[in-house]
Amino acid sequence: MTLTPQQIAADPCPLAAEVAVGKGDRFQIRPLLATDTERLGLFFDALTDASRRVYGPHPLNSEHAKVLCDQIDYGMSLRFVALGPLPTAAQQIVGYMILDLGTRESDAGRYAQVGRPLDGSITATFAPVIADAWQEHGLGSAMIPVITEAARQVGRRQIVLMGGVRDDNPRARHFYEKFGFVRVGGFVAGGVDNHDMILQLPDD
Ligand SMILES: CC(C)(COP(=O)(O)OP(=O)(O)OC[C@H]1O[C@@H](n2cnc3c(N)ncnc32)[C@H](O)[C@@H]1OP(=O)(O)O)[C@@H](O)C(=O)NCCC(=O)NCCS
Repeated sequence: MTLTPQQIAADPCPLAAEVAVGKGDRFQIRPLLATDTERLGLFFDALTDASRRVYGPHPLNSEHAKVLCDQIDYGMSLRFVALGPLPTAAQQIVGYMILDLGTRESDAGRYAQVGRPLDGSITATFAPVIADAWQEHGLGSAMIPVITEAARQVGRRQIVLMGGVRDDNPRARHFYEKFGFVRVGGFVAGGVDNHDMILQLPDD
């Protein structure tokens, strides 16, 4: 059964999960809520230049956190956050993963060019970032199954990367490959090589 935006807004719990990483640090993964403005702003403001260099889906500051939290539309985008470690830092966001329901024109154009046209009604567009202090601790890997399951629950059958992944970001490329994303094409943006990757979600 496909969850509707109204059902998610009424109760986001079916898309939420608690995960454990590393030596047992626990995090809550759940859709972004209207009440997350301040903690999402703190998360964005703290991202380092190194993360900003490879991650730029939208402005990463507290002003934009307010825009996102004021304009939540689960029919357009499921933005997931990781909070923790639990229980001491249950109000701290340490991970943020965008799952747009549909495709961006710029991405769709490139897929069409390589003979892989995207059906926006079954495709989600993905862009993840983990707080610098928690990168490479397994948190991103722990979030992925929660997000792919959510994608399935809202009727998606495939996930593409938002704006691809930079060739000079081997950690992210490894991360995507580890979860089954495959390269379907490449492009140059701002003088940098990028790769388009797609993940087919399993049927029920
Ligand atoms: C990419 C990102 C979301 C992954 O989340 P994470 O929590 O750091 O990832 P994990 O710790 O779960 O896994 C990282 C994997 O990369 C591997 N890795 C680390 N550095 C690497 C490198 N230089 N080359 C290849 N693999 C690398 C780790 O060994 C691990 O793989 P493994 O589980 O097979 O051992 C996170 O690192 C991040 O936010 N990076 C900055 C923003 C970014 O790049 N976003 C994606 C833009 S397309």
